[in-house]
Order: sequence, then structure tokens, then C-alpha cells
Amino acid sequence: MGFAIPEPFCWDESFKVFYDMLDDEHKGLFQGIFNMAKDPKDAGALSWLVTKVDEHFTDEEAEMTKHNYADIGPHQAAHKSFLDKIRALSTPVDDGTVKFAKEWLVNHIKVTDFKYKGKLE
Ligand SMILES: [Fe+2]
Ligand SMILES: [Fe+2]
Repeated sequence: MGFAIPEPFCWDESFKVFYDMLDDEHKGLFQGIFNMAKDPKDAGALSWLVTKVDEHFTDEEAEMTKHNYADIGPHQAAHKSFLDKIRALSTPVDDGTVKFAKEWLVNHIKVTDFKYKGKLE
């Protein structure tokens, strides 16, 4: 899909889902991928990213469950697939993987996360 990949890789208002906790966590995911891209050899940056992704998916899924969000199944499957991929990474992370992670996050928020906008109340 053709969404622009921010450069530098930072969250901006076009990613807003209008739930403060989730927007704050999304900012953290941008930061995590930014850090990994900046130093692909840094195992600490990679493990920080994995932790942030894991925490965010857990929180986001809990919100969807709490509000009986109908589309949770495929959303959870998309989360699991990405988390499995990044959990399997080791340093140095190659350029293709960094690009994949950036594109995945941008597309996931703008396509999949955006579907819950206005529905988690
Ligand atoms: Fe999500
Ligand atoms: Fe999200």
C-alpha cells in the first residue's frame, strides 16, 4: 500500500487514533524502529522494540476486548504475525528488515488500527 514512510521515522498527527494511551504507545513504536534503524547492531535497541511492541499489542487487544470490538480476530492475527517475526530477529538487523518494519507499522496503523477509530468508547 502506498502510504508515505516518514523520514525521519517519527510519529505525526496523520497516525492519530484519538485514544491517548494508544497514540502514546504508537509514538513509542516509531521510536523503537527509529532506534533500531539508527543502530542495527544494537541488541538493546532490538529488545526494547520487541518489548514495546508486545506491550502495545497486549494493551490494544485488551481495549478491543473491553469494547466488544467485532474485528478483533484478524487484528490479533496480524499482531501475532509481526511479533513472531521481530522476536525471531537477531542483530545486526539487515536493511530489508528495517524497511519491512517501517512499512508494516505505517500500514498497520493506517489500515488496521484506523478501523477501530471511534469504536472503542
Ligand atoms: Fe494494531
Ligand atoms: Fe496499534
